[in-house]
Amino acid sequence: MAGPDKRAAMEALVAEIRACTRCPLHATRKNPVPGEGDLDAQVMLIGEAPGRWEDEKGRPFVGAAGKLLDKLLALAGFRREEVYIANVLKCRPPGNRDPRPEEVRACTPFLDRQIRIIRPEVIMTLGRHSTGYLFSRAGLEFRRVSDVRGRVYEVEVLGLRVKLIPTLHPASALYNPSYRSVLESDFELLGRVVRGAVEPERPGPELAGRRRGTLEEFMV
Ligand code: URA
Repeated sequence: MAGPDKRAAMEALVAEIRACTRCPLHATRKNPVPGEGDLDAQVMLIGEAPGRWEDEKGRPFVGAAGKLLDKLLALAGFRREEVYIANVLKCRPPGNRDPRPEEVRACTPFLDRQIRIIRPEVIMTLGRHSTGYLFSRAGLEFRRVSDVRGRVYEVEVLGLRVKLIPTLHPASALYNPSYRSVLESDFELLGRVVRGAVEPERPGPELAGRRRGTLEEFMV
């Protein structure tokens, strides 16, 4: 998709997200958080759902986790405007509870369209919800982020070949500081992948075994 077409497609998508009433979260949100960044980004980051500050501002990762995300991105050699940042859910779940399967089902067609518009070479998933969703989209089995983080998988998602780098959610390091070095290591890996210094691996049989990751499977 060329530049102006991409912009038009994303503008139409954002307008749909703003008007969306597909799940009950529209009733409690202050602002939907469609996502933001460079539409031609090589790297797309996918988080879980807006929190309190994102809901206030209508922008992704603007709270404490977002400040850490900016620092982590710098380790990979990026400013946030140079990547595209989106979430699995576009509206805040009350009290920041986990996304529910029916909300994920209702909202992820928007994320799928974002991925198709941006066509990133690299997708970094932040936390178990986005990792689980992308694994299901790649037909892979997902159990725990700790099993797959620190790796780069070559997968096909929505007809696109992408390098998938799963990692922890940045908020996890706010509650457990020992996770910070894990995140730093994974963002340094992101930098090496973008520079072509790391070859992705094909998912092994332990992930490809059943090849039928479903939303329900990763959300239990
Ligand atoms: N956590 C997320 O997963 N996404 C945001 O946008 C902010 C916090």
